[in-house]
Amino acid sequence: MTGGRLIGSIIFPGVPAQVPIVRGYVRLLVAGCPRRDDAMLLVSELVTNAIRYTRSGAGDGVVTLTLLDLGHAMRYEVMDEGGAATRPEPSGAVPFYSENGRGLRLVDALADTWDTEPCGAGIRTWFELSRPVESRLVRGA
Ligand SMILES: Nc1ncnc2c1ncn2[C@@H]1O[C@H](COP(=O)(O)OP(=O)(O)OP(=O)(O)O)[C@@H](O)[C@H]1O
Ligand SMILES: [Mg+2]
Repeated sequence: MTGGRLIGSIIFPGVPAQVPIVRGYVRLLVAGCPRRDDAMLLVSELVTNAIRYTRSGAGDGVVTLTLLDLGHAMRYEVMDEGGAATRPEPSGAVPFYSENGRGLRLVDALADTWDTEPCGAGIRTWFELSRPVESRLVRGA
């Protein structure tokens, strides 16, 4: 976690059924932000990746999501438990009918900035979405 004001953080089991629950969590916390829908979409993609590719999706694995208010932007961090054979990297050209390969391309296209970094045994993938400073967050002023 970097600087910024903590808006929320949850640790949840790495199972697909948690994804809509997490989407709802984000939806409530940034209800007053214009880019709420982008936030929900991109968090879903990163959480799904954590579950699909890392130890977070095995056995008792967990995923951690943290929301930080940077003032000019919201920062969303998804931490997995590592152990993947791959690294999070946007695919190159995706064939038109392919059902995969678009998650990180969406992050790249919609986020103002994003990156990955090692975090313990796992990887933290984060992105930022700008927001007007006056937009409301559930935590309040
Ligand atoms: N947390 C992660 N840890 C390790 N590898 C990852 C992680 N997230 C993504 N990857 C790798 O990056 C690739 C690209 O991820 P991306 O989300 O863009 O596409 P996808 O998951 O293959 O398909 P889609 O998201 O469209 O269903 C994945 O195929 C996987 O190899
Ligand atoms: Mg994906």
